[in-house]
Amino acid sequence: MDRTRSAVRFLLDGKTVEVTQWTATTMLLPVLREQLGRTGSKEGCAEGDCGACMVLVGREHRGRVRYQSVNACIRPLALVDGCEVVTVESLAATGAPLHPVQQALVQHHASQCGFCTPGITMALAGCYLEEERPDREKILSCLSGNLCRCTGYRPVIDAALSMDNYPPAESWNKHCGQDPERLAAIRALDDGTTLVQDTAGERFAAPRTQTALAQWLALHPDATLVGGATDLGVAVNKAFRKPQLMLSTAHVQGLDEMHADAGTISIGAAVSLSDALTELAGHYPALAELKERFASPPIRHAATLAGNLANGSPVGDTLPPLLVLDAELTLVSPKETRRIPLHGFYTGYRQTGLRLGEYISAIHIPRPRPHQRIAAYKLARRFDQDISTVSMALSADLQEGCLSRVRLAFGGMAACALRLPALESALEGQALDKIDPARMDALLERALAPLSDHRGSAGYRQAAAQGLLRRALLQWQGAGACRIEDLEPTA
Ligand SMILES: Cc1cc2nc3c(=O)[nH]c(=O)nc-3n(C[C@H](O)[C@H](O)[C@H](O)COP(=O)(O)OP(=O)(O)OC[C@H]3O[C@@H](n4cnc5c(N)ncnc54)[C@H](O)[C@@H]3O)c2cc1C
Ligand code: FES
Ligand code: FES
Repeated sequence: MDRTRSAVRFLLDGKTVEVTQWTATTMLLPVLREQLGRTGSKEGCAEGDCGACMVLVGREHRGRVRYQSVNACIRPLALVDGCEVVTVESLAATGAPLHPVQQALVQHHASQCGFCTPGITMALAGCYLEEERPDREKILSCLSGNLCRCTGYRPVIDAALSMDNYPPAESWNKHCGQDPERLAAIRALDDGTTLVQDTAGERFAAPRTQTALAQWLALHPDATLVGGATDLGVAVNKAFRKPQLMLSTAHVQGLDEMHADAGTISIGAAVSLSDALTELAGHYPALAELKERFASPPIRHAATLAGNLANGSPVGDTLPPLLVLDAELTLVSPKETRRIPLHGFYTGYRQTGLRLGEYISAIHIPRPRPHQRIAAYKLARRFDQDISTVSMALSADLQEGCLSRVRLAFGGMAACALRLPALESALEGQALDKIDPARMDALLERALAPLSDHRGSAGYRQAAAQGLLRRALLQWQGAGACRIEDLEPTA
């Protein structure tokens, strides 16, 4: 039996904090505010949308400490065990000079009521540590998870563009991640024990090996697995969900790794979505926009690809691209390990082929083929931090103007993300410039029966699906980047 401990341990301003009063669903934010007096971090929405609660979390990554923003409101306390936590108070001690980000915000009058300011400061502090003189695009991306309702973004962006002009902070300078003492302090938090808590009818465990995880699942097959908790955290805060036992994949050895061999890229279940999507976009540049548009940086730093696939939402953004890329899943249970195609994994609304006591250990994506083309589009009401209304992915080999190995998938058009075999067959072997768009529209009409909801009517979704397919085919014909609104109406 592994040695266990129940206190969550993390570093805060160079000191080890031990929290003993917590349950599986205790989030980091109330602990910071109510137990540790760090009231700089605010609660705006409690669902990962506004960024008022943003903090940085430092973890060992490739021999240094990597600091990344996360939303403390939906970050279970247990998931910062073994990490360093940086709050807005950490950036400048009382009486010490302000951090360059803070100086820049002050100089540019980038705060009015100030409610959003700590979160914006932390988003920019993460950006500052990550990159030398980030450009406007990078800054906009870093701020995409922060809502400011009174100052407006112009002064905030101006401040961010100038933050590198101010004298560097002593402890939070560009090189702090390479400080061997910080790394040693983070490593010292790990004494080889397993974090287990059983309080107030809620249990939590963070097994450290796949064998230990399987043992827990053998005893408790209906346990709730937790990756980054960006879905579960919202369910806890907003739907008052209280899983009886939460099993975290975060500390399971090997699940946080990615491998690429000659044919396949394999992504472990605990790899963050930001790392997974960066890796995938490196192989498939057409996925770069999806990476940028999936939620916001703090959500992507916390979430996992496995969580997005297991959640099985019909509007999960990674499902259509992974369906058309012929991705496969390794599923592990105490009894067996099996590898199955993602196509066929979804059986209904948020229903998957996961059996009781089974978890996703890895996702496998074939490397691109020489003539393979990919298109992946997301339609949502906002560019940033918004759930899809409709999404589409298309993959095919394009040789001498003809399509083969066609895969087409949609999200937001049915109870689950789905591939459309009828359309795939109709496109197979077709010369790209001879495809009859009206025929494709008619086939889509027959294959899809979308619902109306607050994000879009059935009619809108149908027209959008038709437009997205036309857009991909036009782009492959060399029409360049075409906007959906420039296309000919279909009705
Ligand atoms: C503000 C905000 C914005 C968002 N924007 C988007 C968006 O743009 N696009 C989008 O698609 N989603 C979005 N989401 C949803 C969410 O971030 C994703 O679904 C994310 O990928 C979930 O991953 P996770 O690791 O956080 O999952 P968790 O919350 O940990 O788990 C989600 C589900 O998966 C199960 N699970 C987790 N890991 C495993 C495993 N290894 N094996 C089996 N089951 C497992 C859990 O039991 C749970 O049922 C957003 C969420 C928030 C809060
Ligand atoms: S309080 Fe809004 S993101 Fe956390
Ligand atoms: S300064 Fe008031 S919400 Fe941003």
